[in-house]
Amino acid sequence: MRITKYIIAALITSWGSSAFAQDAQWQLDTKPVAKIQPTMYGIFFEDINFAADGGIYAELVKNRSFEFDEPMMGWLEPNSDRHSMNEKSGIAKVIKEGDEPNNHFARIVVKDADGYKLINEGFRGMGIKEGAAYNLSLWAKATQSGISKINISLIDDKNNEIGNASITPDGKSWEVYKASITATATVPKAKMLVTFEGKGEIDLDMISLFPKDTWKGREMGLRKDLVQLLADLDPGFLRFPGGCIVEGRTLAKRYQWKKTVGHVADRKMIVNRWNTEFSHRPTPDYYQTFGVGFFEYFQLAEDMGAEPLPILSCGIACQFNTGELVPLEELDPYVDDALDLIEFANGDVSTTWGKVRSDMGHPEPFDLKYIGVGNEQWGPQYFERLKVFIKAIKSQYPDMIIVSGTGPFPEGEQFDYAEKELKKINAEIVDEHYYKDPQWFLENADRYDSYDRDSYKIFAGEYAAQSVAIASPENKNSWQCALSEAAYMTGLERNADVVYMTSYAPLFAHVDAWQWTPDLIWFDNVKSYGTPNYYVQKLFSTNSGTDLLSLTGNNEPVKGQDKLYASAVIDDKTGEVIIKMVNANASAKEITLAPKGKKFASKATQQLLKSDDMNAVNSLEAPKKVSPQSSEIKIKGGTLKMTLEPNAFYVLRAKLK
Ligand code: AHR
Repeated sequence: MRITKYIIAALITSWGSSAFAQDAQWQLDTKPVAKIQPTMYGIFFEDINFAADGGIYAELVKNRSFEFDEPMMGWLEPNSDRHSMNEKSGIAKVIKEGDEPNNHFARIVVKDADGYKLINEGFRGMGIKEGAAYNLSLWAKATQSGISKINISLIDDKNNEIGNASITPDGKSWEVYKASITATATVPKAKMLVTFEGKGEIDLDMISLFPKDTWKGREMGLRKDLVQLLADLDPGFLRFPGGCIVEGRTLAKRYQWKKTVGHVADRKMIVNRWNTEFSHRPTPDYYQTFGVGFFEYFQLAEDMGAEPLPILSCGIACQFNTGELVPLEELDPYVDDALDLIEFANGDVSTTWGKVRSDMGHPEPFDLKYIGVGNEQWGPQYFERLKVFIKAIKSQYPDMIIVSGTGPFPEGEQFDYAEKELKKINAEIVDEHYYKDPQWFLENADRYDSYDRDSYKIFAGEYAAQSVAIASPENKNSWQCALSEAAYMTGLERNADVVYMTSYAPLFAHVDAWQWTPDLIWFDNVKSYGTPNYYVQKLFSTNSGTDLLSLTGNNEPVKGQDKLYASAVIDDKTGEVIIKMVNANASAKEITLAPKGKKFASKATQQLLKSDDMNAVNSLEAPKKVSPQSSEIKIKGGTLKMTLEPNAFYVLRAKLK
């Protein structure tokens, strides 16, 4: 009796699952239905989490020009007179002179050359690699003779020297001195020690150390491994400089691109808005030197073959902070910033701003096509200001495509209001943001299926699945989050007639200095790695294809029925059909995909991204724990029949015959 009950129960269970379950039967129409925009998959860059200073900007010296609010921040003087009453060793006094942006310098008073030491701690240390060369440069003015030499050493955590150079300062006016240091050891948290020979006073400024081996070998350039990770995404666009950083906590602290171009020493540094944003992750030493400024962003976009997409302040400071507002009648300087930026990017070298670009070494235009006005603004004040920008930009540059915003949330009152206003003004491309839990991503893969086809195009400008809660410091770049994003992205791709641009956010995070998690790429001072989310982005962006195809099951898009998701494109250069499939079930699923009136060739390539552990993450120690595995698969009889493994993301490339 009991046994019979168990047998029946077992049979019922298997009827409900694989033994008798129907395979998912999908059809592929090989006639293109829309273009995939070359801008479809791009990059969102913001200087958050030490992404620029301390990150992609390869400068190793923190507060190199003594401009921080606490002018000696980053500098240590272990034996200085600051710490003793008998004034015997020496001291660095920071002096302010003039009104120029970089108007502080350090006057070093050396009383005992054996006693005085000046140390720079770097950005959570300096990442130094054995055998690598480092370019040192500093400005010095020897107002008094007496200091015959400046010795610069790199030291490890036990104060062992791992490289050195010296400089003989002989000028009575400011002069730039350069030297090269070759490191004898790899030390992720090294420091720079500066000592002096002789006694007297010397003024120092712009004390700088860069690896020689930067991205494209540019002097004072970008950190190579980090840019390589970006270039590997083959991005369609580069959005910069953020994010909330565009808006500033106050208007005075907004991002002003004009102060970020020209010689690095003339760029006006400001405190980074993420310095104090989260009390649970304070970063008091976070400043924006603008060593990576607008010229560098344009150049980076060009290097990667990506469209530059600058976003500018619309005259409203971050509404999560002060929401400070420029009166409409005082908006002109903000609008001029936009017009001048277009001239900076595209203007002839004879124009004011075109000349600035040319003097920086780029006479050819950057071919700017898109400009964003405002970040996460909401309410009527945004639309009043947006209209002024649109009118001014379009009257001078009718072909410039303007990216507008919908505020911070993808639904709700502010969003609905924005949608109405944006339709009224015939907005062109509209930026939507979603920081949501993984379930939301799984449930909203059909978000754009019902969007108005006669209205604006979509820029999914910031999104990331949050494993705990928005901006929680406990959020992880887990496989669960990445898989939900992959599922959602099949919906973005399926709606490529409406969705023109997409980007994950934020992009970078330093493991010792982050404010916001999750992030696409993590790094310390010497290493970096892509998260599972990075590999999802990469699989989409390097398999974007050129034209969208219609992939359906029971005449419906495959948008999460039975937790299966799929989209398909064709690459008109190679003739390959590219199919993306997500199985978000904890069990394997059988699928069949038949191309209408055609057959798949017998061989296809497969990239599989999966983990049995939904909490799996990559790390500096295991950077590729969750990363794609490539293989060749066989297709019999022209119809794809396969078993999708549990919680797995597939990208297949197959030719038709
Ligand atoms: O990506 C981090 C922040 O999230 C961005 O700066 C902002 O636009 C959004 O709120």
